Amino acid sequence: MSDLKVEDFCPFCCPSHNGGSTPIPTTGKTIFYTSSQQDKMAKMEVKTSLLDDMIGVGDMVLLEPLNEDSFINNLKKRFDHNEVYTYIGSVVISINPYRSLPIYTPEKVEEYRNRNFYELSPHIFALSDEAYRSLRDQDKDQCILITGESGAGKTEASKLVMSYVAAVCGKGAEVNQVKEQLLQSNPVLEAFGNAKTVRNDNSSRFGKYMDIEFDFKGDPLGGVISNYLLEKSRVVKQPRGERNFHIFYQILSGASEEFLCKLKLERDFSRYNYLGLDSARVNGVDDASNFRTVRNAMQIVGFMDHETQSVFEVVAAVLKLGNIEFKPESRANGLDESKIKDKNELKEICELTGIDQSVLERAFSFRTVEAKQEKVSTTLNVAQAYYARDALAKNLYSRLFSWLVTRINESIKAQTKVRKKVMGVLDIYGFEIFEDNSFEQFIINYCNEKLQQIFIELTLKEEQEEYIREGIEWTHIEYFNNAIICDLIENNQTGILAMLDEECLRPGTVTDETFLEKLNQVCATHQHFESRMSKCSRFLNDTSLPHSCFRIQHYAGKVMYQVEGFVDKNNDLLYRDLSQAMWKANHSLIKALFPEGNPAKINLKRPPTAGSQFKASVATLMKNLQTKNPNYIRCIKPNDKKAAHIFNEALVCHQIRYLGLLENVRVRRAGYAFRQPYEPCLERYKMLCKQTWPHWRGPARAGVEVLFNELGIPEEEFSFGRSKIFIRNPRTLFKLEDLRKQRLEDLATLIEKIYRGWKCRTRFLLMKKCQVVIASWYRRYSQQKKYQKIKSSAITVQSYIRGWKARKVLRELKHLKRCNEAATVIAAYWHGTQVRREYRKYFRANAGRKIYEFTLQRLMQKYFLEMKNKMPSLSPIDKNWPARPYLFLDSTHKELKRIFHLWRCKKYRDQFTDQQKLIYEEKLEASELFKDKKALYPASVGQPFQGAYLEISENPKYKKLKDAVDEKIIIAEVVNKINRANGKAASRIFLLTKNNVLLADQKSGTIKSEVPLGDVTKVSMSSQNDGFFAVHLKEGSEAASKGDFLLSSDHLIEMATKLYRTTLSQTKQKLNIEISDEFLVQFKQDKVCVKFIQGSQKNGNIPTCKRKNNRLLEVAVP
Ligand SMILES: Nc1ncnc2c1ncn2[C@@H]1O[C@H](COP(=O)(O)OP(=O)(O)O)[C@@H](O)[C@H]1O
Ligand SMILES: [Mg+2]
Repeated sequence: MSDLKVEDFCPFCCPSHNGGSTPIPTTGKTIFYTSSQQDKMAKMEVKTSLLDDMIGVGDMVLLEPLNEDSFINNLKKRFDHNEVYTYIGSVVISINPYRSLPIYTPEKVEEYRNRNFYELSPHIFALSDEAYRSLRDQDKDQCILITGESGAGKTEASKLVMSYVAAVCGKGAEVNQVKEQLLQSNPVLEAFGNAKTVRNDNSSRFGKYMDIEFDFKGDPLGGVISNYLLEKSRVVKQPRGERNFHIFYQILSGASEEFLCKLKLERDFSRYNYLGLDSARVNGVDDASNFRTVRNAMQIVGFMDHETQSVFEVVAAVLKLGNIEFKPESRANGLDESKIKDKNELKEICELTGIDQSVLERAFSFRTVEAKQEKVSTTLNVAQAYYARDALAKNLYSRLFSWLVTRINESIKAQTKVRKKVMGVLDIYGFEIFEDNSFEQFIINYCNEKLQQIFIELTLKEEQEEYIREGIEWTHIEYFNNAIICDLIENNQTGILAMLDEECLRPGTVTDETFLEKLNQVCATHQHFESRMSKCSRFLNDTSLPHSCFRIQHYAGKVMYQVEGFVDKNNDLLYRDLSQAMWKANHSLIKALFPEGNPAKINLKRPPTAGSQFKASVATLMKNLQTKNPNYIRCIKPNDKKAAHIFNEALVCHQIRYLGLLENVRVRRAGYAFRQPYEPCLERYKMLCKQTWPHWRGPARAGVEVLFNELGIPEEEFSFGRSKIFIRNPRTLFKLEDLRKQRLEDLATLIEKIYRGWKCRTRFLLMKKCQVVIASWYRRYSQQKKYQKIKSSAITVQSYIRGWKARKVLRELKHLKRCNEAATVIAAYWHGTQVRREYRKYFRANAGRKIYEFTLQRLMQKYFLEMKNKMPSLSPIDKNWPARPYLFLDSTHKELKRIFHLWRCKKYRDQFTDQQKLIYEEKLEASELFKDKKALYPASVGQPFQGAYLEISENPKYKKLKDAVDEKIIIAEVVNKINRANGKAASRIFLLTKNNVLLADQKSGTIKSEVPLGDVTKVSMSSQNDGFFAVHLKEGSEAASKGDFLLSSDHLIEMATKLYRTTLSQTKQKLNIEISDEFLVQFKQDKVCVKFIQGSQKNGNIPTCKRKNNRLLEVAVP
């Protein structure tokens, strides 16, 4: 193996921007990983090639030396180490481990997901992944061809492929439902189409090809299942050690009592003739739980409850058919006839299927042959009756199976009409060599022969032919081409199948023997055909070959076929009476299974034989497979015992031989692992070289040359064919792929960069444009706003001004109006006044007032006039005053009275002379001094104050006195001077002048005492009606030496008044006049108290004075 390095290929595109890639050295090579990949890888064991930790060699192409022994040893070694998968290039060899290995876990699925084929140790998942990815990424329809003997593990392999694809393809509710339905179709088909055989406990007794359809993303859309030739003979008879189809056992073991009762079945297997009893139970198989699984799967796939019910009714009917037995009965005409032994079973079948019992019974007894408007009925003998019964059972069952497939297809078919990518999985029955091989084995082996043919064509022959075609240097490798065997079987003229058909159609007696004879004639010279009677001299003496057999040397070995039953099975005849009876069933499913039973659609043409049908379907299948990219899984059985850990080298060697695996390796080794036309190759890898990227102008081949030179791929690693490039080593291809992947990442980054740039630029330009638009809109908007604001402001200002102006005008107008109004009002008032003035007299409103004023005037006039007449006298003391006539004049009346009185008084006063005035003044003074104080006063009022009672100047008697007193005498009166010692009175003349008080002797007229007014301090008197009074003198004065005067006068009031007035005018001092009933008088040195008491009136009204003691002078006043 050349030591290739990524750097060798990559002169210019070592990415520096892929997230910091780090070279990880591995065995002999360096590969770059992105950091995320590294993380992922760090978590698991880093495996980059199947060469890592390899047991033996993982790829037989690497085997050295290459021979059968080393090949088998390698397989054995790997098998012993639980490595059940080995590659031959891209072909997977799978050895059945017969035990479950922990290599199908979800972790394993993840491990193989999106990894290159040769990256990890060989695995069926690697092949599945490769197929799935090339389907998804390169748009190439795929087929997975699984071949191998019965029990080699084909069915398991097909399920593994399907479950891997289901695990890695898209997810989501809808997708998951599709997946689930696809996967769940398996248990249903296995229950009805698989059986335990000596080779395999779960042997597929039908061929199955399933197309899984995907959309462009690789999400599953649905599928189509094709089935090939169910081994229906098993329904009625099973070889020793084998079982009938699983479903019969499952239904009896797993159905509830109730359900069994409904189906009129019993749980006991031994009750049913069709169930082989010797191996009814299979080790490790739980029929009951499988039954539940099947029912569940049917539900998931989409079977309706009534459909499931119908299916099981048919299965029950088939089982019960086996229990119908016939007994011979001789009829009078000598013909044998059969009769049903026990009609109970028949009755139950009819109840179950809704067939008229008599119709079915008749169908088992008669056979009607129609030919050219003629109907001939013949009776059936017992053997024919049994044949008819079994034929019915087989037909019922195989048609039911085909119906199931159709029904499943209906559920799982893709619901869309979009273009689909297809992955076909072929799991067809494997090559079978039994002790007794019949028509079924012949057909099965023919199919395997065809598959081998296609394998050879696509891998060996086609490969070599291609090298030659392409002019690649090539040494031919010998291999066995089985085309000759296929021809032996399928040739349209001389093929065994054609012969069989010919025999079946031939009029006259046709038996299996006549068929063998024919074979002997036609195929006698064929290398691969042998029979006792064949003309092939080599085998003439072959006594190991019984007479009724022929032997074919298949690619996988010689198989001897018992010719018995070939014709019948090929004819696949069901008496028309039976198919018509079935069609009449009151059971929709059974009716649908036998459309030819409809008398209206009677078809006298023979139906195609089983052989020709199969040939045609195989041809279609082959054509289909050829259009797809094949992926091979070649299953190998390690032993015949279905046991783990046993590796039977002889058995394996045989399989390796007939599978041509060694040749396969040789071709692979001599050739090139990979080829591709130049154009797609250049297209795929042109990004790895500057010259070819992005466009290569020139022939594609030259471009590839430049590319490979540029990448520095060693010359021995590739060759240039005429139209294709051949790459010897897959690793070279993987390197290219890795480089491409990295480069694509770079390109993706570049594209992303440019796209981002473009996107940002467009976005920027758009934003710029938007910005301009927005800005213009905004500006417009803002200007509008501004304008509106200004406008509204202007309007506001304007309105204010207008308002102001208007108000001003209004004010003026109002003022004007008011002026006008005022003028008008004034004018009106004035006019009114004028008018009123003019017309007032005419106004009734003034009448009241006028009347009132007039009345008042009149009343006043009357009042004053009456008053004049009633006037009282002018005497001031006249109290009379006329009564008030009107209440409203009350105050006036009083005022008038007062004025009148005042006026009267004035008038009265005006009459007085000065003399009189003086007198009245004195009188007034006296009143002020004594009124209400001195009881004597009232009597004095009427007495005129005369003063000079004594005619001093005229009376000569008082001449001397007159001479002695030169002053004007104010008072000259005779008074009694009280003697202080006894209280006896002595008359004296009392004189008062302007300045003095004089006391003179009455008789002589001599002055006894003279006291200046200034020395008189006080005058005391009683309050009573007496004339006593004391004149108190100033202490220390000259007059005082004799003491105060105690006098008595009849004119006391006048004297006291005049003394008071004179003193006041002379001394300007008010004389103290004391009015008291007890007062002190100074007598010489003594002070005598003068006390006035109430006296008796015996002396008349004269008061008497008596000295009581030194201190008291008592005056008794009457
Ligand atoms: N990969 C496998 N791992 C474990 N057991 C397997 C595997 N393949 C096959 N078997 C066993 O072998 C039996 C037969 O396999 P099957 O696929 O039915 O064979 P075929 O379809 O080729 O006749 C299965 O029932 C199973 O027990
Ligand atoms: Mg199978």
